[in-house]
Amino acid sequence: MSWDEAFARQYEAWAAGMTADIGFYVELARATDGPLVELAVGTGRVAIPVAQATGRRVIGIDSSPAMLAQARARAAEAGVDLDLREGDLRDLTLEQPAGLIYCPFRSLLHLPTWADRRRTFQRVAASLQPAGRFAWNAFAFDHRIACRLDGAHQEHPVPHTIRYSIGDNRIDILLDADAKSSLWWATKNEWLGLIDVAGLELEDLYGGFAGEPLADDSHEYLFIARRPPLDDPRRPSTTVVAVARSPTVAATQAATRGRADGL
Ligand SMILES: C[S@@+](CC[C@H](N)C(=O)[O-])C[C@H]1O[C@@H](n2cnc3c(N)ncnc32)[C@H](O)[C@@H]1O
Repeated sequence: MSWDEAFARQYEAWAAGMTADIGFYVELARATDGPLVELAVGTGRVAIPVAQATGRRVIGIDSSPAMLAQARARAAEAGVDLDLREGDLRDLTLEQPAGLIYCPFRSLLHLPTWADRRRTFQRVAASLQPAGRFAWNAFAFDHRIACRLDGAHQEHPVPHTIRYSIGDNRIDILLDADAKSSLWWATKNEWLGLIDVAGLELEDLYGGFAGEPLADDSHEYLFIARRPPLDDPRRPSTTVVAVARSPTVAATQAATRGRADGL
């Protein structure tokens, strides 16, 4: 388990500046029929507004008792009904297939290895309705930012130091208050590979929460993948088939065609 319970005490202050993602996940939830599930729900920072906006119960899964305790208290305070479950993302099991599974704030990066992520993506694919969506965001690693921040002490949002392990593609956030959070960064192609092996399809890939196309200078990936619909003639193939809805997806399709043509 890569989550340090001591970090939970500082989490609200740590995440206070992160609000841009909420509208993005709320809109996806509004557009969804069927159960809504947040992976790594934490304190309910996103799940509570999603439940408020949709009037529906959100299932929230997290392995941290300390984070879930905060989610329970915050949901009660907001008068919102969350179905909070202690569990590991890698073992996701639902009684009913979901219409939307989402994972905000780069939480998939807490899974250290490709095998952990592959297992999670396969559990997600098995837990979605046909045409159900899986959405998540993660930062794009920027070595210029790493050079600037590695080892530098920062006061905001809470006093901390960031250290980069290049060999392990890992970032350690070390709080002065003696807590640590580790994230293992992933490239666009690693994410596309995970979509592929899980038998999901890429639906959209954005570079920002307002739906900006992914560009060379984007710092965030916003992925929307889906389980193929039942009437999709490509089922049960596990090949990634991009749906040309955004310029980025169209570009990914073109690049894939280029590779197939030996370009
Ligand atoms: C950065 S917080 C995100 C919380 C919330 N989704 C948000 O957006 O504010 C990361 C969360 O991932 C959870 N987590 C880390 N590894 C996990 C795992 N293997 N299974 C379930 N939850 C995990 C932690 O307990 C923590 O609550």
